[in-house]
Amino acid sequence: MPFYTIQQGCSEEREWVRNKLLGLDRLSPDNKEKVLTAWVSAWKSSSYANLEDMPGFSFSLYPLLDHVNDVVHFGISMAEEATKRWGVTVDWDYLIQIFLLHDIDKPLLLNRDGDKIVKSPFASQIQHGVLGALLLNEIGFSEQVVGTVATHATNSPFHGSSTEAYILHYVDLFCADRAVILEGQTPYYQKLSLKK
Ligand SMILES: [Fe+2]
Ligand SMILES: [Fe+2]
Repeated sequence: MPFYTIQQGCSEEREWVRNKLLGLDRLSPDNKEKVLTAWVSAWKSSSYANLEDMPGFSFSLYPLLDHVNDVVHFGISMAEEATKRWGVTVDWDYLIQIFLLHDIDKPLLLNRDGDKIVKSPFASQIQHGVLGALLLNEIGFSEQVVGTVATHATNSPFHGSSTEAYILHYVDLFCADRAVILEGQTPYYQKLSLKK
C-alpha cells in the first residue's frame, strides 16, 4: 500500500478545505491550488472521512485543522512584529506555505479508535515531516518548502537556517503547548528547561 496518492479531489472537497484554512489569501494563485491539492491528498489517503476528526497530536484530540490555523494566526503576528521590530525580511508566500503544510502528514501517521489516538503502521516506517515532504515534493512545491517541512519536527536531527523556519519552529511549539496544557500535561517549554 502506498503512503499516499496525490489527488485533486472534487470541487466540493477542494472548496471545503479552502473554507477551513486560514491564510490562503496570502498565497499566489498557483501555490494556493497546490496547498489545496496537498490537503485533499492527505485527507483522501487517510482513514478519515471528515477532516475535522483528525487529531493534531499523538497525545491530544485537539483538531489538526485548529492547530494549523493557530500556527497561521500566531505566526503571521510574530512575523509581522519581527519585521517591524528587527527589520527582518520574510518571504510571505514561503512562510504561509510552511505554516499550512508543516503537519500535512499527520492524517497519514495518526489514526483514531474512538477517542483513542493510535499511530498508523506508517509511523514506524517514516518520520513525521519526512513523509509530508515526500508528498509535497511530488506535488511540486519548492525545495525550500519541502526541506523545511522535512526538518521541522522537534526530533529532527537538524533544522533549516531560514528566518521562516525559525519562526515556524517557535510558533509551532507555542501552539502545540496550548494542546498540551489543555491535556493537563507538562508543556514543551517546561520540558526543555528541565534538560539544562
Ligand atoms: Fe509537526
Ligand atoms: Fe505543528
